Formats: sequence, C-alpha cells, structure tokens
Amino acid sequence: MTKRPIIIDTDPGIDDAVAIAIALFSDELDIKCISTVFGNVGLDKTTYNALRLVKFFGKENIPVASGARKPLLRDIIDASEVHGKTGMEGFDFEDPDMSLLCQESSIELMRKIIMESDEPITILPIGPLTNIALLLSTYPEVKPNIKEIIMMGGSTGRGNRGVMSEFNFCADPEAARIVFHSGLKLTMVPLDAGVRALITKDVSEHIKTLNKTGEMFYSLFKRYRGGSFETGLTMYDSYATAYLLQPDIFKTVDVFVDIETQGEYTSGCSVVDLRGFLNKEPNTTVILDTDPEKFNEWFIQSVKRCC
Ligand code: RIB
Ligand code: CA
Repeated sequence: MTKRPIIIDTDPGIDDAVAIAIALFSDELDIKCISTVFGNVGLDKTTYNALRLVKFFGKENIPVASGARKPLLRDIIDASEVHGKTGMEGFDFEDPDMSLLCQESSIELMRKIIMESDEPITILPIGPLTNIALLLSTYPEVKPNIKEIIMMGGSTGRGNRGVMSEFNFCADPEAARIVFHSGLKLTMVPLDAGVRALITKDVSEHIKTLNKTGEMFYSLFKRYRGGSFETGLTMYDSYATAYLLQPDIFKTVDVFVDIETQGEYTSGCSVVDLRGFLNKEPNTTVILDTDPEKFNEWFIQSVKRCC
C-alpha cells in the first residue's frame, strides 16, 4: 500500500504533540515535513518543541522547518496558559539537535516538496494558518499538486479564544480567510468535534502503561489545561489526524464557510452556513460530530503504535 504524502503545519503545543506522534507512527502516512508556526507559544519554542519531539520519537529523518513568527497583520497572541510557558510543560525532553532545523523557511520547503511530489500532497494544519496563507499567496503554482487541506480550526458555534472565534483562526483571521478563498478542497475539524469526544480518565490512565510515548503523554496531560483527567481532555489536533486516518467515525456536512475579518468583536469567527441562508456553493467539509467511544478506542490503538 502506498503511503499518503502529508505535510504537517503545527504549533506544538501539547495536543499538537499527540497528533504529530500518531501521524508519525501511522503506517498509512508518509510525513514529508513538519512546518512550525507561532501559536500556542512563540515560533522559537514551537520549533524547538518540534525538534524535541522528532528526537524523542526517533524520527530525526523527518525535515523540520520554521515558518511565520507572527500573524499577517495583527498582533501575536498565544495559549501558554493552556500548554505552559514552554508550550510542552510537564515532561523533561532531551535537548534537540538544532542543527537539524532546515535552513530554508517552511514556506520554501513546502513549495519544494509539493512541486517535486509525484502524488498530490495533503496538508494537515493544526495551528494558525499563516504559513499556509503565505505558501498559497507566494507560490500559487503549488495548488494543482495539493490534494486537500484537513485543518483543525474554527467552530460552528462559540469560540475558545474569542467570543465567536477558535484559537487557530483567532490568531490570524486574514490567513484563515485566504485559505478559505483558495478554491482548494478543504476539511474543517472544529472545536465542536473536540468537545464531543474527550479523552477519558481511564484512557489517560491506560495509555501511560502502553509505552514511553503514552507515559510522556500522561506527564504532559497533568499540565495540560484543555480539560482535566476528571472531566476529560480535549485533543483538538488529534481529531484532525483521526479524520485523516479513520473518517468513518465522523459525521460531516458540505457547506459554505467564510472567515469574518472585519467584525469588531467577531474577527476570526468561522461563519459556517449550515442552513444555506447565504445561498453560496459549499466550499468546505465540516466535521459535525464523532462517536466518543470509537474516538477513544482509535486513540488507544494509535498510541499503541508509537514507540
Ligand atoms: O483551538 C484549539 C487549537 O489551538 C489547537 O490546535 C491547539 O493546539 C491550539 O493551537
Ligand atoms: Ca495546535
């Protein structure tokens, strides 16, 4: 079976770390590179964290390149209150080999990978969309060789950073709008999927017995503020990986989506036209729901495949 070529664009980030691990150890995916972006913490830290992760997983052959240090127009925000000031608080990783960081920007590296690929590339953005917007704006010639973009971001309802905006889209609304206007095949994995399939306390307790990766995740989860062991943990970025690998556990709908960038209070809001009020052609597949038990089972099986 040929592996599906994937580019991961990420702001690790505790839930990013889990999504990256599951993708790296999947036998269905060929991870072409890990592109880092500002987001949960600053770019230097997200890049450092990505390099620490590939070292921990023994995957230092995967190219890591850094991209945007800030949003296209707005002031930078972060989510260090959720992930800790390092972005991956809670586990003492070994220092990475910084010499492995690609000298070219991730936008350049993504362009090269896409243009040289014999097979269309799937892009998995699990952070702010600044790198993807820059890639598509700077090098539109990449579009014919992009199979689709499956992104964690947005919400069909209320936000988790803005009143109506999810963090990744709130961090760079203009970038998100560029992506939703790209004409590419888009799948949006919003907050809503996440809050319906929390990682239960039993699953957290179970994975720490599986292997060193599960043990590391458990340590990170003790610091992670995306829920709690008692109430369940939100693994937002892993939902995007789960959709990529096991779409049948998700309920989806094809609708028109655009991103608000002018609203005084609503910038970054994903306007998801579920009832067709705007009479516009659908441009996005939106995840509406998932089966919590099936997601937790998938999560366990995925962590089992890690080192
Ligand atoms: O809103 C959740 C998203 O914001 C996740 O990608 C999380 O890692 C943060 O980046
Ligand atoms: Ca993220």
